[in-house]
Amino acid sequence: MITTPDLWHHYGRTRATTDRTVPATFRWAWSQNTGPGAETLGDLTGLRVGDLGAGAARHAAHLATHHQPARVDAIDASAAQHAMATDLYAHLTPRLRLFHADAVAHLRQRPSTYDALYSVFGAVDFTDPRDLLPTAADALRPSGRLVFATLAHHLDGAPARPDVTHTDIPATTPHDEATTMRRWVLQERTWTTLLGEAGFTRINTDLLRADVQGTRTADALLVTATRPT
Ligand SMILES: C[S@@+](CC[C@H](N)C(=O)[O-])C[C@H]1O[C@@H](n2cnc3c(N)ncnc32)[C@H](O)[C@@H]1O
Repeated sequence: MITTPDLWHHYGRTRATTDRTVPATFRWAWSQNTGPGAETLGDLTGLRVGDLGAGAARHAAHLATHHQPARVDAIDASAAQHAMATDLYAHLTPRLRLFHADAVAHLRQRPSTYDALYSVFGAVDFTDPRDLLPTAADALRPSGRLVFATLAHHLDGAPARPDVTHTDIPATTPHDEATTMRRWVLQERTWTTLLGEAGFTRINTDLLRADVQGTRTADALLVTATRPT
C-alpha cells in the first residue's frame, strides 16, 4: 500500500496546545489586522456553508458560533488537521460538522447543496483549480457564492503566475524531512478566467495588502464569485 506523508502534520500544532478558543473575529489573511471579515460571505443565517481546507476549523467554528448558519461543514484532507479540529471543536456539533475528506471528492457527492463555500489559503490554494472550481460551482445552489483568500504573490516575493501552473513549495513530513507540495499562486486575471470557465459569474477580486510585517506575511487576493441562477 502506498501512503503519502501528511504534509500538514505540524501546521497549527503549537497554537492548538495554547489556544482552544473559538475566535471572536474572522480574518481572511494572517497578515491582516483590519479589513474585510465574515460579511464578505453575506448573511449566513439559516444557510449551509462549507469550508474547503478548514485546517483546525477555527474559521468554521467562528461562523458556527457567531453567524447562525444552518450548518458549517469543515472539510480537510489532512488526518492531522482533522484530528486537531475534532479535538478543539467537536463540541460545536451539529451546527459545525467536521469532515476528513478531499474537497473535490466531498463536493462531487453533494451537487446543489451549499449556499456558500469558502477557502482561507485552503483547498483552493493546494488543488488543481481545473478540478476544484467546476466541482465547487456544481456543489453550490443557484446564487450560491464561492469566496477565497489566496496568495497575491509567492511567500519568497516571486510574482504570481500568469498561467495555470503550480509551484513546488517547501514542505516538511511528520518526521521533519524536507519535501515539496503543490501550490497554485496565480495572477488575479488568471483566477478570473478560471472561474468564468468553471461557470461562475459576478467575479470580483480585491487585493488585501499585508498590514502586519513578518517573515510569513504576504499580500492576499480576496476573490468572490457566484453560481448563476
Ligand atoms: C494553509 S492550511 C489553511 C487552513 C485553514 N484554512 C486556516 O486558515 O488556518 C491549508 C489546508 O488546506 C488543506 N487542503 C489542501 N488541499 C485540500 C483538499 N484538496 N481537500 C481538503 N483539504 C485540503 C490542508 O490539509 C490544510 O489543512
